[in-house]
Amino acid sequence: MNYIIVKDYDDLSRKAANIIASQVILKPGCVLGLATGSSPVGTYTKLSEMCASGDVDFSKVTSVNLDEYEGLDGTNDQSYRYFMDKNLFDKINIDKKNTYVPNGCAADLKKEGEEYDALIKSLGGIDIQLLGIGLDGHIGFNEPDEFFTKETHAVELDPSTIEANSRFFASIDDVPKRAITMGMMSIMQAKKILLIANGKNKKEILDKALTGPITPMVPASILQLHPDLTVIYSEN
Ligand code: GLP
Repeated sequence: MNYIIVKDYDDLSRKAANIIASQVILKPGCVLGLATGSSPVGTYTKLSEMCASGDVDFSKVTSVNLDEYEGLDGTNDQSYRYFMDKNLFDKINIDKKNTYVPNGCAADLKKEGEEYDALIKSLGGIDIQLLGIGLDGHIGFNEPDEFFTKETHAVELDPSTIEANSRFFASIDDVPKRAITMGMMSIMQAKKILLIANGKNKKEILDKALTGPITPMVPASILQLHPDLTVIYSEN
């Protein structure tokens, strides 16, 4: 594991963007695994700037996102599809047809999950997967459980996740209670993983995930088994 401690969020965002940009420069047709939440916003801003200045070309890139709320479509400004469009895809020269986010409005989420996994497989897997970490140790929306789930699947969100994410909604009652998330198989089969975390409140769970027992009760702890994991942490 490569553990990089940086001085602040701007530094974290620049380093994460540089790592993703180098992946795209080295392999223009790569598959980027992308994440939502507040942590990657700065990284996406930097990547947009690098694209505008001509330093990175996303025209051949394909992206697959980790997760989506159940019942929110891309026109809903709380959906992760909307988040990705606004924070990244609308600002770079990626072909929107090649940007994938699980469909939280699919009639059959089990089938949607199977199709999403088949899609990732058909793309040859993920070259680099960007991850944030939830306060309960979740990655994507893989919540603490008695087992790790391999496939893309529907999940009940943990009350603590609903509360943490309510800051983005008008009220806690508006936060969807369920979501669809990539499972551990596609995440762990990514060739590289880049986990970013900022803020003092993330330190305890990050330490637990990276140095504690590998357990589905701390979903991110499975990352200890990944052969090419980079973690960037900033306290501020
Ligand atoms: C959300 C997302 C995760 C994200 C996490 C942390 O629930 N599903 O992919 O990593 O919460 O979010 P933040 O970066 O806002 O702390």
